[in-house]
Amino acid sequence: MAADVIGTSELIALMALSATLFLFIHTRDLNSKLKEMEVKLQPDEMVSANQLMTSLEPFQLNNTRKAKQEIVFFNRVPKVGSQTLMELLRRLSIRNEFGFHQDRVQRVETIRLAPEDQAALSALVSSYEPPSVYIKHVCFTNVSEFGLPEPIYINLVRDPIERVISWYYYVRAPWYYVERKLAFPDIPLPDPKWLKKDFEHCVLSGDRECKYLTGEIREGIGDHRRQSMFFCGHHADCLPFNTDGALERAKQAVEQHYAVVGVLEEMNTTLTVLENYIPRFFQGASDVFWNEISRYKPINKNSFKPPVNEEIKDLVRKNFTKEIEFYEFCKQRLHKQYLALKLPEKP
Ligand SMILES: *[C@@H]1O[C@H](CO)[C@@H](O)[C@H](O)[C@H]1NC(C)=O
Ligand SMILES: *[C@@H]1O[C@H](CO)[C@@H](O)[C@H](O)[C@H]1NC(C)=O
Ligand SMILES: *[C@@H]1O[C@H](CO)[C@@H](O)[C@H](O)[C@H]1NC(C)=O
Ligand SMILES: *[C@@H]1O[C@H](CO)[C@@H](O)[C@H](O)[C@H]1NC(C)=O
Repeated sequence: MAADVIGTSELIALMALSATLFLFIHTRDLNSKLKEMEVKLQPDEMVSANQLMTSLEPFQLNNTRKAKQEIVFFNRVPKVGSQTLMELLRRLSIRNEFGFHQDRVQRVETIRLAPEDQAALSALVSSYEPPSVYIKHVCFTNVSEFGLPEPIYINLVRDPIERVISWYYYVRAPWYYVERKLAFPDIPLPDPKWLKKDFEHCVLSGDRECKYLTGEIREGIGDHRRQSMFFCGHHADCLPFNTDGALERAKQAVEQHYAVVGVLEEMNTTLTVLENYIPRFFQGASDVFWNEISRYKPINKNSFKPPVNEEIKDLVRKNFTKEIEFYEFCKQRLHKQYLALKLPEKP
């Protein structure tokens, strides 16, 4: 039973720590402890695990209370289902009475801005009459850094490999480039050979488009390979692919600023957390989502996306370690926020 003793004392130490120091320590430490314990715990220790869970307090996980203006800033990541969340917000803006503002489609989506443009964006976000929501594809922009009141940050993430594949086929879907051609007639139509190239071949042949190298910097159309970029911010350290520096910045921004980062694969949990942590905007979100939105076919679903072989996904996954870590971090935070609510178990 030696293992049990260690397990229990560790739990007690952790509970004491979380009660007294939780606000001051980086929750990352707690996160890794929790992760270790998930592996170690035996069924008879689950009682203690539940005790640990009851020590999670919504207050400590609630960044909404830090906001100094009732403006939701949704710096949406492409290809994570953010179109659906945007549609949800549009409907909720009528139901819950708040302003809905969205950036228009850009010729070249610039997600990384120079400091003066960040200042201008921060001023724009703060110029809407509260309560309002503002939506734009852009890296995390620290509004309070420009002396303006902190808004309520939200976003959504998705399995990083599925997202990269989704992006790959999205830019090849006929409606995507036809729409762009209509909006910007001088953009040339893509090469048919490029259009027909499938993801598996692209990865296996070592095509530059499907090469994901640690430390590589590639800006182009906003380096859409990475969702952590949208959380890291505009700093140069955010540029190199799959690096610790960028990962740490992204995690810090989430922990310090984001009220909720939802997870596409866990929509029910995401909606419940949004409803409870940002009620002014999201009350009734589950109802609207299930009864008005998901009944119809998923918005922006790409029927041109063929299934991709799991072995190919695993190959890509090997190079996305920091992205996967970031995704798992967001997922765990969402789970903690959910557990802290201590909702009665569903029958
Ligand atoms: C955002 O800016 C505020 C005020 O300058 C600062 O305290 C905070 O650390 C910044 N957040 C990040 C993630 O850099
Ligand atoms: C993954 O990274 C290695 C180098 O670390 C590289 O040789 C390989 O081509 C990369 N694979 C993919 C699919 O990008
Ligand atoms: C999510 O909630 C909806 C509506 O309450 C329900 O129909 C669905 O089964 C739930 N999905 C999961 C995975 O729990
Ligand atoms: C989080 O804070 C907001 C704003 O103060 C509040 O409306 C909401 O009820 C809080 N949620 C939780 C779960 O504590």
